[in-house]
Amino acid sequence: MRKTMVAGNWKMFKTAGEAAILVQNLEDVARECSGDAETVVAPPFTALHSVSTVLALDHPPIKLAAQDMFWEEEGAYTGEVAPRMLTDLGVAYVIVGHSERRQYFGESDEVVNRKARAVFAHAMTPILCCGETLETREADRTADFIAGQIRAGLAGITEADATDLVIAYEPIWAIGTGKTATPEMAEEVCAHIRALVAEVFDDVVAERVRILYGGSVKPENAALFFAQPDIDGALVGGAALTAEAFAPIIKAARA
Ligand code: 13P
Repeated sequence: MRKTMVAGNWKMFKTAGEAAILVQNLEDVARECSGDAETVVAPPFTALHSVSTVLALDHPPIKLAAQDMFWEEEGAYTGEVAPRMLTDLGVAYVIVGHSERRQYFGESDEVVNRKARAVFAHAMTPILCCGETLETREADRTADFIAGQIRAGLAGITEADATDLVIAYEPIWAIGTGKTATPEMAEEVCAHIRALVAEVFDDVVAERVRILYGGSVKPENAALFFAQPDIDGALVGGAALTAEAFAPIIKAARA
């Protein structure tokens, strides 16, 4: 019932030209797998236009995501990007609250929530990220910590919007480190997230919300995550930067 999402977060990689070539190289596999997988790419802001041009020309089954967004309509906010600048380019999803934004740019739960609400207000869908540090996991505080991030992230979101929501569980210690959570560890937290969504909203919403795992997802391990009952896809960093690595991850979503 929940379609698997395979999303590539290109972070601060790829020029506009490089990103356009990569998306072209992913079109065939995305089309071939479109019955089973929704393929999404999140290029840096400077490449959204070139990628959107490729996508507009060919109508391929790849959706466009942004990596962040500010909530104001417009104004004197040097360096920020407004919602309408993204909808204008055909952006469907916006990643909010990635751990790198929380860690390096000081984004609080409140900021992340404001962004998530603004994304919905502009008819796009947030990919709301959460995840614990190694210190939190070792202190056995993961469940409480994730509950705090999820409850804060969902504040003020309507039930109607929440059914479309995508949540990404990305343990910080597994990002870019080559260390993955085991599929069982990831499933445990993703099931916990689904239970939290059911508490905040209800079971119907919880059954609809897609929950992705992220953190060193590779062609070799993707299928193991997709096989878990509460994991509905992946948010992929490093392995989404080449078609050679990303294509087999998309294929792994095939039923
Ligand atoms: P890696 O796949 O490089 O570990 O990155 C995961 C991530 O942060 C995706 O948003």
